[in-house]
Amino acid sequence: MAKILVTGGLGFIGSHTVVELINAGYEPVIIDDLSNSQHKILGQLSKIVGFKPVFYQFDLCDKQKLIHFAKSEPDITGIIHFAAFKAVGESVQNPLKYYNNNLTSLLNLLSVYSGESVDFVFSSSCTVYGQPDELPVTENAPVKPAQSPYGNTKQIAEEILKDAVTSGDAKKVISLRYFNPVGAHDSALIGELPIGVPQNLVPFITQSAIGKREKITVFGNDYNTRDGSCVRDYIHVVDLAKAHVSALKLMESNTFAGYDVFNLGTGNGNTVLEIIFAFERATGIKLNYEIGPRRSGDVEKVWGDVTKSEKQLHWKARLGIDIMMSSAWEWEKYLAENPL
Ligand code: WQD
Repeated sequence: MAKILVTGGLGFIGSHTVVELINAGYEPVIIDDLSNSQHKILGQLSKIVGFKPVFYQFDLCDKQKLIHFAKSEPDITGIIHFAAFKAVGESVQNPLKYYNNNLTSLLNLLSVYSGESVDFVFSSSCTVYGQPDELPVTENAPVKPAQSPYGNTKQIAEEILKDAVTSGDAKKVISLRYFNPVGAHDSALIGELPIGVPQNLVPFITQSAIGKREKITVFGNDYNTRDGSCVRDYIHVVDLAKAHVSALKLMESNTFAGYDVFNLGTGNGNTVLEIIFAFERATGIKLNYEIGPRRSGDVEKVWGDVTKSEKQLHWKARLGIDIMMSSAWEWEKYLAENPL
């Protein structure tokens, strides 16, 4: 059974990917420093898959610990690297924390596994596109100057990975550019666990629906869009997780070599207000929202061209907005009854 290292494997996307790896017959090994996740997620995962995946708690920036890990787990055949700080606003306040953590962890992984034939999947982001000139945005679109240090760490990481493949330090690498991951596993046992006040739209919606937040502020309705609010490509986290299995399988085939990049979205854009109405439709709950000022750093509209992922990754998002909203709500209700 191929053993896959999943860094950040107790996080939102990481935990859902652990489930899909097991479903696909892989053996995930998790490293997580619990800086933005909870150890209890391991128990939640065991309720879904029937056993506790192997878990190591340490910071990937500690190279000696990573070297020790590699010796303890010698037969890793693939790495899915999620572990990174990801709060756009925080990265503006504390850029050095983001550059240090997000880049040192990647460099340590590439150094410790240098020259090994380990397939590498990198968690990248549509933030590398900034505000695209053309929509839907394809993987060939020019990478725009990052709007935040967080987005810059993703851009720099992609450049590092490309160079590592050129030098032979890394053999096969796929960067997956996520659009907006939302929703939760259909068991409602894992999902998004924002720390403090949610920065992202959907967890803010579910927390306001459950009564933890008084109201939702729509950050601007004066954009050049259908209803004036921003457009994003929201994708169910389970669809996103399955794409990581597809990426491993592509690299296991002899049709793949070197480095490549794939968009992970649905190919459709929805406005903020459309998401609010979709949540109300899916749950029957009336949301309390108001229109507020724009949020600095927001791009007006972005959604992905996913043709390349469909054709070459042999992957397509299947789950629609309604199940994205209903699954996110089921998870919020689970949390209200079972605080983690
Ligand atoms: C979505 C829309 C807000 C909160 C995220 C991740 C980023 C990257 C891309 C992975 C925007 C609006 C939000 C609220 C609102 N993913 N909004 N009221 O900014 O697209 O970025 O996806 O790398 O890491 O953060 O997502 O959910 O913050 O915002 O009106 O209370 O919802 O203005 O238009 P964003 P988001």
